[in-house]
Amino acid sequence: MKHFITGLIAAAVLATGAQAQQKIVVGHALSPTSHYGVGAQAFIDTLTELSGGTFTGEQAPAGQLGGERDMIEGLQIGSLDLVVTSTGPLGNFVPEVFALDLPFLFRDYDHARKTLDGEIGQELLAKIGENNLVGLAWSENGFRHVTNSQRPVRTPADLEGLKLRTMENKVHMTAFSGMGAAPTPMAFPELFTALQQGVVDGQENPVTVITASKFWEVQKHVSLTGHVYSPAVVLASPVLFDGLTDEQKGWFMEAAKASAAATRAEVNRLEEAGVALLRENGMEVITDIDKAPFAALAEASYSVYTDQYGTEMVDRIKAVQ
Ligand code: PAF
Repeated sequence: MKHFITGLIAAAVLATGAQAQQKIVVGHALSPTSHYGVGAQAFIDTLTELSGGTFTGEQAPAGQLGGERDMIEGLQIGSLDLVVTSTGPLGNFVPEVFALDLPFLFRDYDHARKTLDGEIGQELLAKIGENNLVGLAWSENGFRHVTNSQRPVRTPADLEGLKLRTMENKVHMTAFSGMGAAPTPMAFPELFTALQQGVVDGQENPVTVITASKFWEVQKHVSLTGHVYSPAVVLASPVLFDGLTDEQKGWFMEAAKASAAATRAEVNRLEEAGVALLRENGMEVITDIDKAPFAALAEASYSVYTDQYGTEMVDRIKAVQ
């Protein structure tokens, strides 16, 4: 009998131990070695360390769990724990975030990072929190550039009629209509095949993504238009997060900060080395671009945000030094 009771206690302890250990799944759209992969792994490693192994994690990379919009929905219903995503589809859930997607708004990386790390970034993370999501930290995708299979793009006239995949983001779509292209919104996991089969002529993404996705296999020209900064964000499911203790929430926040720092470091590295990689792989890289005419035509997209929220946030972002 004594042995039987001791056995029961041991089983209960083991069961409790097993329950106390939780594996967090971190979804993202790119490869495990991409800037998102590096960030996802930094999240997992930091969380595992801070929690003394109570939490472990694994990546679900390369859109295994769907496009970014699907993954955000997964967070809301609790079928996914954590996502590193661009803001591309996020404005469909949290419209205030469209302010960050406006073209030619951020001057450079420093401006964008200061904005997101400051008061404005905190306010927008709080807005995310009002929409059945948990915004843990701003991370980064990078400045976006146009690639295509048809011709070098130097002026807006070169964009005329190009079928260009955009994210499912009405600010971006309006901007590209204004610049003369034919925007075609599409989830990222469908993009490579769409480019390969000529369903679309081109796409736009940062150097980080163009290299991680080996778009040189299906695109000839890349124009360093830098037409819009693409923020990324580390999001958690409220279904998971609301059930954590305050201490555990602190670990998640710290891990998200570590993730963002690792991703930004990788963006820096690829901004240096990536363009050479594109050339080595046969792409024609067009650098001598006058951005002013593109910016003038893209201006119409500002009303997608300002008609609803006015110009205050845009002015505040521009004023960040
Ligand atoms: O183009 C997109 O959809 C995004 O930039 C990507 C590649 C999924 C990264 O967030």
